[in-house]
Amino acid sequence: MTIAILSALPEEQGSLVSALECAERVRHAGRDFWRGRLHGHDLVLVLSGIGKVAAASTAASLAERFGARRMVFTGVAGGLGEGVRVGDVVVARHYLQHDMDASPIFPRWQVPGHDAACMACDAALTATLLEAVGLCIERAEGGFGPESAATGAARLHHGLVASGDRFVSTAAESCALRGTLRAAGHDVLAVEMEGAAVAQVCREHGLPFAAVRTISDRADDGAPGDFAHFVRHVAGPRADALVHQFLRL
Ligand code: ADE
Repeated sequence: MTIAILSALPEEQGSLVSALECAERVRHAGRDFWRGRLHGHDLVLVLSGIGKVAAASTAASLAERFGARRMVFTGVAGGLGEGVRVGDVVVARHYLQHDMDASPIFPRWQVPGHDAACMACDAALTATLLEAVGLCIERAEGGFGPESAATGAARLHHGLVASGDRFVSTAAESCALRGTLRAAGHDVLAVEMEGAAVAQVCREHGLPFAAVRTISDRADDGAPGDFAHFVRHVAGPRADALVHQFLRL
């Protein structure tokens, strides 16, 4: 049963491609899809690029052309929830597209044709990711060592992640996003630009999906610098540690 591991940027994929056994590169739809085996699993590794359309296109290729039967997204996100700090890890329980608004025809944030604003991640796959993150944090090895956490030991959060085609980079915008969602009963932990699109494609194909995001910035005025630093120095080792642990479980 082929597992797809998606990331947006090369740094978020770490050195997973070089760890693949029997690696084979397939060029398709403008991307390199890497097939191979790791810890006894058939894998496909791919970089989606940034944004919801890129992520949806990649996920559709994985489902239709590469026979992916489960998908996991690994990467970074901006922290929105109170107490969600740089270096912490968020495992998504469900996803929402914060820039989807077909109101008043459909409720705000709801994708027409779907039954609610939030799309749940797969419970079993998510439970395995939670366990993997917990073990990585407990051992504080590799990408989870003390040197990688900006503000002390990394903490694990589990809940709502919002995706949209915007890099959120002012305190005013992140505050407004958090407040608007909270007023509608959605307590959001983190924001990024791909996960909800992959969740939607997986739901439409009946495929389990889970996602893990390390917090690179607080989606505030310091976000561009924090993001660049985190992606350069921490995202890769984190991805390596997490994905290897996930596949071993
Ligand atoms: N991914 C990482 N940080 C982000 C931010 N601030 N906004 C959107 N996506 C992100």
